[in-house]
Amino acid sequence: MQQWNKDGDFRLFLGNSKEQLASLTEKVDMIFADPPYFLSTGNGTVKIGNRYVRFDKGKWDRVRSKEDIYNFNYEWLSLCREKLKDSGTIWVSGTYHNIFQVAKCLIDLEFKILNMIVWQKSDPPTTFTKQRFNFSAEYIIWARKCEKVPHFFNYDLLECMNNGVHMPDVWKLPAPGRWEKTCGKHPTQKPLRLLYRIILASTREGDIILDPFAGSCTTGIAANLLGRKFVGIDQDEKYLQLGMRRREEISNPDVAQKIFERMSENPEEVQVIVNHARPELLKLMIEQGICYLRAGDSKGSILVTPGFERTGYVLLHSGGQNCHLFKLKRKGCFQIWTKETLEKHGFYPKHALYYQVFHFDNSQEVPFTREPRLLQGLNTYRSKIRPLSDFIGIR
Ligand SMILES: C[S@@+](CC[C@H](N)C(=O)[O-])C[C@H]1O[C@@H](n2cnc3c(N)ncnc32)[C@H](O)[C@@H]1O
Repeated sequence: MQQWNKDGDFRLFLGNSKEQLASLTEKVDMIFADPPYFLSTGNGTVKIGNRYVRFDKGKWDRVRSKEDIYNFNYEWLSLCREKLKDSGTIWVSGTYHNIFQVAKCLIDLEFKILNMIVWQKSDPPTTFTKQRFNFSAEYIIWARKCEKVPHFFNYDLLECMNNGVHMPDVWKLPAPGRWEKTCGKHPTQKPLRLLYRIILASTREGDIILDPFAGSCTTGIAANLLGRKFVGIDQDEKYLQLGMRRREEISNPDVAQKIFERMSENPEEVQVIVNHARPELLKLMIEQGICYLRAGDSKGSILVTPGFERTGYVLLHSGGQNCHLFKLKRKGCFQIWTKETLEKHGFYPKHALYYQVFHFDNSQEVPFTREPRLLQGLNTYRSKIRPLSDFIGIR
C-alpha cells in the first residue's frame, strides 16, 4: 500500500520498516522514530520490576532476546543513516528498557549524539511497584549523521519559546489528550506537543521528515501543520488508516487551526499580567517599575490559583493602546501594600484599602513580536493573565 494525499506531503508505506526503508528512493532532512520497546509478553501482561502487570501493546512489541533486539535496532538505524542527508538529524524515543540499546547502536553506526531529551510527563500514571521510583519520564536521543557536517538547530526560536532562556533538555509535557484521539487510538501514541517542539527545533519549512514506526502518524500530523513533508512507514494497516483519518481531519482549515493552537500551547508557559491604566497612571507605573491591582473583591479577599507562580511579565496599556511589556523582578511574586504605602510612592489609589503590587524591571522594555490585539478581548479594562506567546514568539 502506498497512500498519498493530494499535495504529496503525506506519504504512507505499509510494511516492514526494513524493506520499506531499503526501497525509499529519496534522502530526508530529519527522522523521528518511536521503535518497539519489546515489553509485551503476549498474554496481556508486562514485566515491571519482578512483577507482571496486565498490559499488552500488540505482536509488534513482543519480548525478544537481547541479541535479537540489538540486531533489529542496528538494522533499521543503519538503513535510516543511508536515507538521511549528511546534514540531517535523527531523534529516537524510548524508555529505560530500550534506550541504552538504541544509544549503543547509534554510537556503533558513528552517529554523533547531540542531546538526550527527558520528556517529563506532567501527569504520569502510577507504577505498580513499591520497589522503585514511579516512572514519569521517557527519553529521546537526538543525534546527527556526521561528526563534521553541521546540523540545523533553531536556537533563537526555541529560546523564544522558552521565555528568552536557552531551552533545556528536560521538557515537561502532558500525555496525549482526548483532543488528539478524535479519530481513534494507538496504544503508544506520542503527544503532538512533543513532536511540535522536535520539528521546530531541527527542521525548516518544506523539509522532508521520515518516521519508520509511524503508528497513528503523530509525526506526520505535526509535520504537515508546520509546513513540512512527511513519509511514514508502519506494518499495521489499521494504524496507517488511523493516520489517514487524522490527516483528513486537518484538511479542514478550522479544525487544523484549532489543533495547531492546542499543539503549540506550552502548559508550562510563563504568563503575563495584562493591566489597563489611564495614561498618566501608566506613565507613573513605568517610572516607578510598579504595577498594582486592587487586592480581591469589595470584601477584600484574594484568590491565587495554581499556575500563578508562572507569572513572569506585566503588560501595561491604556484601553488597548500604548502597550508596554516588562519582565517582573521576581517571577510569580507580588506584595500586598496598603493604600498609604502606595501614596508614599506617589500613587493616588482610590478604590480599596489593599493592593497587589508587582515590581518590574523598568530599565528594559521587552519588544513585542506579535500584535497584542487587546481590543479583541471582551473587557479591555479588566486585568487578565495571558500566555507570553500571545505577545512574543510563535504559537
Ligand atoms: C511505539 S509505536 C509508534 C507510535 C507513534 N509514535 C504514534 O504517535 O502513534 C511503534 C509502531 O511501530 C510499528 N512497528 C513495529 N515493528 C515494526 C516493523 N518492524 N516495521 C514497521 N512497523 C513496525 C507498530 O505497528 C507500531 O504502530
